[in-house]
Amino acid sequence: MASMVSEFQYPVLLSGSPLPIRIYGTAFGPNRPVPHVIDALREGYRAIDTASTRKVHNEVSDGEDIATALQDAKMALKREDLFIQTKFAPAWTQAEPWAFDVGDDLQTQVYKSALRSGTALKVDAIDAYLLLQPMGTMEETRMVWQAMEDIYHHGGVRYLGICKADLPVLASIYEKATVKPSIVQNRFTHRNQYDKLVLDYCKEHKICYQAWGVFSEENKAVAKAVMGDIHARGFRVAGADFDFFLQCIMAMNQRQAVMFHIVDGSSNVEHMRQNLKIGAESASIGDDLIVAFRDALDQYHMRAKSTA
Ligand SMILES: NC(=O)c1ccc[n+]([C@@H]2O[C@H](COP(=O)([O-])OP(=O)(O)OC[C@H]3O[C@@H](n4cnc5c(N)ncnc54)[C@H](OP(=O)(O)O)[C@@H]3O)[C@@H](O)[C@H]2O)c1
Repeated sequence: MASMVSEFQYPVLLSGSPLPIRIYGTAFGPNRPVPHVIDALREGYRAIDTASTRKVHNEVSDGEDIATALQDAKMALKREDLFIQTKFAPAWTQAEPWAFDVGDDLQTQVYKSALRSGTALKVDAIDAYLLLQPMGTMEETRMVWQAMEDIYHHGGVRYLGICKADLPVLASIYEKATVKPSIVQNRFTHRNQYDKLVLDYCKEHKICYQAWGVFSEENKAVAKAVMGDIHARGFRVAGADFDFFLQCIMAMNQRQAVMFHIVDGSSNVEHMRQNLKIGAESASIGDDLIVAFRDALDQYHMRAKSTA
């Protein structure tokens, strides 16, 4: 199965459909309510993002919800309609019960962790396996990547990816890997100009970009300022400013031919419905508005830089 996937393709579901733009993230924590994977699947999410660390994810409960959805005759879902993505989480991000033994070498940690993830999620093969974050050194990052490549070659996973990767790390993995990264999952923040360097690299190497942190208070503040600028330029936009800001972000990336996805983890069904609409109207946004939006965003970055 894995050998059929070209390293230059963007990820697709087993059915052949493209990876959906919105991905449901299952992290929980002090400021994040426990996710409702079953609700997300009922509402229409088809891609699920989880991780092996029990600190902020629970693959067992995610797997139970996925199994429930697959058995629900009304939903009429098949395994090939879903994209199930999880991550190798390094030792310092783990919590009881650990996915591997503390004394295991890195390679064994990755094998054991992937095996446990597949069992918890009740899948024969994971669609995408990501490294939660770069390891302490580039050498260790490469060792983990090589172990992930082994899993790919044995058909345990269809795509590989990395999270929290800046350009030097991403480029280093890409250049040395025999199985190239298909996915980068990064925090989408104005502080690094919305990851411009990584997005450019992703475009050039046909890597899909998954943004998290999109619904942060920080992003809402940027949206308020940028949309204020857009209104001041005489543009009239439909709907709430933050929703329109997200539509513009999607449109801007799509027009630059970047494969841009949003990972969100709402536990609120109304928010899920709202989030599933992101990107639906991006194609109808005029080029003049996109040009103005990009300029307003650049101006915001410049102001933020000069006051930092
Ligand atoms: N790879 C990594 O290192 C990494 C790190 C962080 C996150 N992630 C992934 O990304 C996913 C998303 O994480 P995130 O940090 O971006 O936060 P998030 O879980 O998407 O959302 C944070 C907050 O935004 C709210 N929210 C979502 N949609 C909303 C809407 N339409 N209107 C108003 N509020 C809304 C949620 O509250 P409600 O529940 O009330 O809607 C939640 O409290 C995680 O679940 C995880 O899968 C990955």
